[in-house]
Amino acid sequence: MDTKIWLSSPHMSGKEQEYINSAFESNWIAPLGPNVTGFEIDIQSYLGDNSLVAALSSGTAAIHLSLILLGITHGDEVICQSKTFSASANPIVYLGATPIFIDSEADTWNLCPEQLEIAIKDRIAKGKKPKAIIAVHLYGMPYKIDEVNKIAEQYEIPVIEDSAEALGSSYKDKKCGTFGAISILSFNGNKIITTSGGGALVTKDKVIKEKAVFLATQARDNAVEYLHSTIGYNYRMSNVLAGIGRGQMKILDNRVETRRKNYEFYHSNLKDIDTISFLKEPKQHFSNRWLSCILLDSERMREGLRIALDKENIESRPLWKPMHQQPVFKNCPKYLNGISDDLFKKGLCLPSGSNLTDSELNRILTTIRTYLNTL
Ligand SMILES: Cc1ncc(COP(=O)(O)O)c(C=O)c1O
Repeated sequence: MDTKIWLSSPHMSGKEQEYINSAFESNWIAPLGPNVTGFEIDIQSYLGDNSLVAALSSGTAAIHLSLILLGITHGDEVICQSKTFSASANPIVYLGATPIFIDSEADTWNLCPEQLEIAIKDRIAKGKKPKAIIAVHLYGMPYKIDEVNKIAEQYEIPVIEDSAEALGSSYKDKKCGTFGAISILSFNGNKIITTSGGGALVTKDKVIKEKAVFLATQARDNAVEYLHSTIGYNYRMSNVLAGIGRGQMKILDNRVETRRKNYEFYHSNLKDIDTISFLKEPKQHFSNRWLSCILLDSERMREGLRIALDKENIESRPLWKPMHQQPVFKNCPKYLNGISDDLFKKGLCLPSGSNLTDSELNRILTTIRTYLNTL
């Protein structure tokens, strides 16, 4: 059996170990220290736009803190893109609030502005104005930022920008991670750069950053003894893991370039097949192409191809199953147009790591072509 080809595996730059060693040498083996501060500064410089960054233990923690900082509490309603990973929605429930799921539009597969406005109007008519909107740049493709922001501004609802999959993407030459009232990033092992596990909260407001760090370090009041007047969390990033992040930031642009090349490889070799289609970049959208995704003609074909790849020891995965289809969220209100259900039936994420070799890419392509020839 050929060696396993993963969907998206960690890819080190070689610089990480130096930062990890410095953490050990200085004994900063703690959830704070020079690597944490350095990593935050690295991300701030990369994002620009006066961004302030709090490095945290995960992207999920960053969403949880964002909701708390926006005042979400028990009984509130929060709008969330339905087509996403469950981590976008779970923190809403941690707070005793209710997710309101919104379908996708066909151009970016993200939050549909039309359904968004229908939902806001309907929730207001039913007596509760949603307190926040969680919009996601799925697979690195920026959502329709102008349209979504316009509606959010009109109804005065803050946007939490879930940029977990979109570090390195941009919209109108402005980096993803800078568009939300609060934005979040993830450095999980499968992301474009990784700290093994980790995340960040991004804001332009100094007070929000300070509050995020305060809440993430058990909400310790400014006193010699351990004094707490607020419930806190243990959500700060470890100084050892931030060292991995510092090494990874050195090659982020290169990783974006390589992932975009993977997409080009699949696109240029498969674009003539009329049973396969691709997620195109709309004007002004620049995707990091975290994952290259294709749509097949039917669910049967999508599953057939997934199994054919699996038999060749190649990992692929259906697109995220929409949250409104998840048993755990079955009672949540939803505003649908059928697009995310259709995408889920037909969509497949192909191996997309920046460490894929030419021969691995060719092995994947041959497997896809061989499968299509059997139909
Ligand atoms: C869209 C999206 N949101 C949130 C998260 C949560 O990030 P983390 O795994 O760092 O908690 C992820 C990835 O894992 C994600 O893909």
